[in-house]
Amino acid sequence: MPYGETWRRQRSAFQRDMTPQKATSYVPLINASCKVLMHALLRSPEQFEENFYKYSGGIMLKICYGLSDERECDNVVKDLTKIWEASLAAAVPGTNLVDLVPSLDYLPDFLSPWRKDAVRVRDETRRIFTDLVQHVREKNKEKLRLDDLDLAFLTASVFEAGTDTTTATLSTFIMAAASYPSALVAAQAEIDRVCGDRPPTIDDVESLPFVKAMVKETMRWRPVVAGGVPHQATTTEDDYYNGMRIPAGALVIVNQYGMAMNQTMYGQKYNAEIFEPRRWTDRPEGVGDMFEANQGFGFGRRICPGRHLAVKTLFIAVANLCYWFDIRPRKGYSIDVHKFTSALVVHPEPFKCYIMPRTGRAAHIEKEAEAASELLSNL
Ligand code: HEM
Repeated sequence: MPYGETWRRQRSAFQRDMTPQKATSYVPLINASCKVLMHALLRSPEQFEENFYKYSGGIMLKICYGLSDERECDNVVKDLTKIWEASLAAAVPGTNLVDLVPSLDYLPDFLSPWRKDAVRVRDETRRIFTDLVQHVREKNKEKLRLDDLDLAFLTASVFEAGTDTTTATLSTFIMAAASYPSALVAAQAEIDRVCGDRPPTIDDVESLPFVKAMVKETMRWRPVVAGGVPHQATTTEDDYYNGMRIPAGALVIVNQYGMAMNQTMYGQKYNAEIFEPRRWTDRPEGVGDMFEANQGFGFGRRICPGRHLAVKTLFIAVANLCYWFDIRPRKGYSIDVHKFTSALVVHPEPFKCYIMPRTGRAAHIEKEAEAASELLSNL
């Protein structure tokens, strides 16, 4: 969405619901959802990506629309996944010829397949989210002073922005854990030492610096918004930055991946190309908070407003994955750590690995998930 009045109205409404304090109030929901996730991974470890969608999508549906019924959430997540896959692929600048040659936009409809696709995605998205928002509409409209369509699009963009990015980051974590086994072993040793026989919670974040470093390193190693979110220079005149000219109206693309591989910034002790949480724990200043030196959430006034919620959702999932499971490469199968999809949010291409419960833990996962499902339906 371009910078302007609609963006300002929606952003300010959203920020009120995503302060650090508000994010903390969602912790019981995240904890319970995480237990359900662990159970889902126990039953279908190979569908880890799908299970991550249900986890992050379920949290977002509860926050945005108050949905809690697991089956209802799963169905909505499925419908939406299809739609945003199409829209995210189209959002990469250069996907359609019209991005590169804007005058093509004057062609008639039958010569502009990109327009037909965009209209279809827009109409379907509009229908699903307007329906979804129906039952919370009256209450929120008054509170937020947004009209129906604004409210539908605000909740929709929050849902989409939060679900796909969190899923992609967790799948990337699985790829890293399976490809760099010593990092997982170190995280498990830290959790066993600090938590003993209980699963980690968000209150352990400061006592588990290595696990925290795993989350920061996952976001650095493969930033899921690899090419940044493109922004248009809205100035009416050319702008200059560090001697470089930015023509008025130009599309500015942030090369997040390139920045993450900067050896001067990240590679002083360990090569920036490899997944190595110790690059954070070994620093004189320690791991730092989740946002320090972490470019994965973007920058400036467009920085991700959901980041306080995101880091909680990621930390709880990663810490619990390490506590409950061993994640190992398959014998004779090598994971290509450079194979990612190309879209606005990049995911690892499907790969195989083992996600197995650690000794004696499977029965506990079942028990915890039962209690969590009940809690979720009452939240
Ligand atoms: C791992 C998780 C996440 C990552 C990596 C991520 C990353 C990003 C990035 C890079 C941007 C663009 C910033 C820019 O333009 O410079 C962004 C924008 C945004 N994110 Fe996130 N995000 C995550 C989770 C979330 C969550 C959980 C929510 C909602 C609760 C959310 C809501 C948004 C919204 C609404 C925007 C658009 C902001 C605007 O246009 O002003 N994100 N995010």
